[in-house]
Amino acid sequence: MSRYLDPDARFLMSRTVVRMPYLPDSLNSRDPWPHVTNRSPIRMRRIAEQLCAQFDRETDMQVGYRAATPPGGHVTVVLLPSTWYLIGRARLIAGAVGVSTNFTEGPGATWVYVHPNERGRGLIQQAWPHIAGTWPGVQLVGPFTKAGAALRDRLAGNAS
Ligand SMILES: CC(C)(COP(=O)(O)OP(=O)(O)OC[C@H]1O[C@@H](n2cnc3c(N)ncnc32)[C@H](O)[C@@H]1OP(=O)(O)O)[C@@H](O)C(=O)NCCC(=O)NCCS
Repeated sequence: MSRYLDPDARFLMSRTVVRMPYLPDSLNSRDPWPHVTNRSPIRMRRIAEQLCAQFDRETDMQVGYRAATPPGGHVTVVLLPSTWYLIGRARLIAGAVGVSTNFTEGPGATWVYVHPNERGRGLIQQAWPHIAGTWPGVQLVGPFTKAGAALRDRLAGNAS
């Protein structure tokens, strides 16, 4: 195995790699859109944490979902399995939508993330009927990145 000369290199490398987490069928085999809550197995909560960390890193937002100390029962993370990369007995998770029911205005999708390799294929738009059906009236919550604003407008257009 190669060794990094700079002692900080491994840490920095781990912060620049963008992953699709691996969800074995033994943990969740049937849900088209698996939900992660504070009652989910820790391995599923770690998947949500990893995707949220990638979202925070890219957007410089500080959502900070933590697997070990998951937020209260008002947060659900909907996982978005890849439709592009298929493997046996498991799924790769290409994105996630964090939904909070803690707002007086109604449910809000506070973070929305798709792995760069899977962007532009309408993954969120495929998941959105399920999300809107589960949380009627759900809205994307800002602040918005350029891509997030485009997605918000696209979803609003779909709704009308
Ligand atoms: C926002 C994000 C989830 C969109 O994912 P995606 O898979 O590319 O979304 P879709 O393929 O469903 O595209 C939705 C619409 O947004 C547009 N869009 C996507 N990325 C865009 C960008 N960088 N600039 C402008 N428009 C963009 C698409 O053209 C599409 O509109 P169309 O169907 O009319 O062509 C993804 O870019 C992402 O994870 N970005 C990093 C995190 C982030 O910014 N989240 C939003 C925070 S508010």
